[in-house]
Amino acid sequence: MNTIKLKDLTFKPYISSAEIATAVKNVAARINEDLADKNPLFICVLNGAFVFAADLFREINIPGAEITFIRMKSYIGTQSTGEVQMVSGLYEDISGRTVVIIEDIVDSGFTLLQLKEMLRECNPADIKVATLLFKPESLKCDVTIDYVALDIPPAFIVGYGLDYENMGRNLKDIYTIVQD
Ligand code: IMP
Ligand code: MG
Repeated sequence: MNTIKLKDLTFKPYISSAEIATAVKNVAARINEDLADKNPLFICVLNGAFVFAADLFREINIPGAEITFIRMKSYIGTQSTGEVQMVSGLYEDISGRTVVIIEDIVDSGFTLLQLKEMLRECNPADIKVATLLFKPESLKCDVTIDYVALDIPPAFIVGYGLDYENMGRNLKDIYTIVQD
C-alpha cells in the first residue's frame, strides 16, 4: 500500500483525486442552480479550504460571482480545540448579500457555528455553507450545512488542502490515518 508518513503519523490513500473532482462538480452544479440570480460572494475559510475553493469556484458559472478569503484556526495537531480564532478578517461589505462559506471540513462544527455568528452581525441577506467533507458522527452543535461534497467517518484525514501540523496540504488525493 502507498502509505505516507507526516511527522509521527502514517496515512493511507482514501479518496482519489478523480472522486473528489466528481463530488466538487456535483456541488457546484447545485449551487449554480440555487444561486443563479443571487450575485453570491463566496468566502473561503483559510487555510484548509484553499484547494477546494479554487476547484469549486472555477465550476461556478453565475455571472458576477465573487470570492474572498478569511482565516480561522481551531485545530492543534489532530484535535479540535473547540476555541476558534479569526486570524484574518473580512474586508468586504456583505450587508444584503448572499454569502457562501467554503469550508474544507466540518468536524465538531464549532468553527462554522462561530463564523456564521460573526457574519450574521454584518447583516447578509443569506448565509449558505459549502463543505468538501463532513463528519456527521463528530458534529457537536446545531449548525446547518447546505452543500456537502462527501460524508466521511470521524477518522483524521489529510490532503487536498487539509493538513497535519501544516503538512500534507499538497497531496492530490485524500489520505486517512493508519492507527497502530
Ligand atoms: P471543527 O470546528 O471541529 O468543525 O473543525 C473544523 C476545522 O478543523 C476544519 O476547517 C479543519 O481545518 C480542521 N479539521 C477537522 N477535521 C480535520 C481532519 O480530519 N484533518 C485535518 N483538519 C481537520
Ligand atoms: Mg478549516
